[in-house]
Amino acid sequence: MTPEADRLPTGPALGDRLLTLTAGPPAAGGTFVARHEGRVVFVRGTAPGETVTARLLEDPQEQASARFWRAEALDVLEAGVDRVPTVWDEAGVDGVGGAEWAHIALPAQRRIASEVMQDLLRRAGVTSYPTEQVQVEPAPHDADGLGWRTRVRYAVDAEGHVGMRGWRSHEVRPVGEDPLSARAVRELRLGEWTAPAGTEAIDAVAPSAGPASVVLIGRDLDPDAVVIPESWGEADVAVRTGRGMVPLRGDGTVHERVGERLFTVAATGFWQSHRRAAELLTEVVEATLRAPHGGSAWDLYGGVGLFAAVAAAQVGSQGTVVSVEGNRRASQHAEENLADLPQASTATADVTDWVRARRGGVDAVVLDPPRSGAGPELMELLANAVRQRIVYVSCEPSTLARDLSAIEKKGWRVVDLRAFDLFPHTHHIESVAVLEPTPG
Ligand SMILES: C[S@@+](CC[C@H](N)C(=O)[O-])C[C@H]1O[C@@H](n2cnc3c(N)ncnc32)[C@H](O)[C@@H]1O
Repeated sequence: MTPEADRLPTGPALGDRLLTLTAGPPAAGGTFVARHEGRVVFVRGTAPGETVTARLLEDPQEQASARFWRAEALDVLEAGVDRVPTVWDEAGVDGVGGAEWAHIALPAQRRIASEVMQDLLRRAGVTSYPTEQVQVEPAPHDADGLGWRTRVRYAVDAEGHVGMRGWRSHEVRPVGEDPLSARAVRELRLGEWTAPAGTEAIDAVAPSAGPASVVLIGRDLDPDAVVIPESWGEADVAVRTGRGMVPLRGDGTVHERVGERLFTVAATGFWQSHRRAAELLTEVVEATLRAPHGGSAWDLYGGVGLFAAVAAAQVGSQGTVVSVEGNRRASQHAEENLADLPQASTATADVTDWVRARRGGVDAVVLDPPRSGAGPELMELLANAVRQRIVYVSCEPSTLARDLSAIEKKGWRVVDLRAFDLFPHTHHIESVAVLEPTPG
């Protein structure tokens, strides 16, 4: 035996070791907690109370020392009461990622997500709000949790096959019926198309106003090599290469309507993904921000100005609103989208840097950070700068819980906290927390 072979692991190869596990309570990332000989195992692809044969994902060399293990369910030995036939055959273990709860009944998904959210808030030490009251609510008129995704990123393999990546995998897998995507995205039939050489990904968008959009992404992609198929109908088409965006049809933007207001967004830019999200979150921010007439407000992580428009209506023409956004293109679109509201202005900056540089306070703030959250430093700056209310829109409950706990320590309290199922058949949760200074 060579010295190298001597050092090779002698146990089963990664993924070869099978365990029989019974899933218990939910944990982060859509997994469930099981135990094997006293050790915690986080299992994906299962449901509460069921017994499965699961593949261990821990590296054989690290199994003995790992504090916990991770595994994925391969066979159901005894189904849990929440298991239903999957809504997406191509999803799940060894399938496409991004629909990890497709085999769990929709009301049960929301019950489980509520438990996860309550647990995260408790563990973070949030005390000013009764965490057991937080229940994940469905989006209005969302009966089956299907057809909601208006922003879909497809992956493309070296042969030009269009699909999606598996969970923690680089492999591109077929999407089949793609049931979570909005109809206008499904009608593009991208899964049946062969992309030109050099295409690495495709962004498909089904906006609420105007045509759908397809953007082919590839560092060295040749725009002249793109032949637009008939199935794309009237969709706008663009190519994003290492040298920038080349629109082939349309101008590389899409349009979104919320109530009476029309927003322009870059075709690859950020907009809330669920087809009802922008409207729902606008209503919640409208009902909770309470920016005073003639007063001041900031919309932090403002994107193209969705919540700044709400704040501007509340402060009126005598007030002031600033939308702060780090992405230059989004900020430019915010400026255009808010052009009819002279009380609204935009700043292109890192939010924490911008707030740190402010002198004087502000009446009300809405913030909607990415998954990494605002962070304790920004929460402390806001605790000192904001006079009346903070509305925190979050797509990641663990960072929200951390940030709420941080601002509670600076004398603020949570007065309302709602959670929404804006990502059905996944474990992701959107939520909105409303904060006020603690009286006295
Ligand atoms: C979840 S989106 C919210 C956008 C907007 N509120 C909406 O609902 O359409 C977060 C936004 O924050 C921006 N962003 C992320 N990190 C940032 C930072 N450190 N400073 C400023 N903007 C940031 C992103 O470009 C993105 O537009």
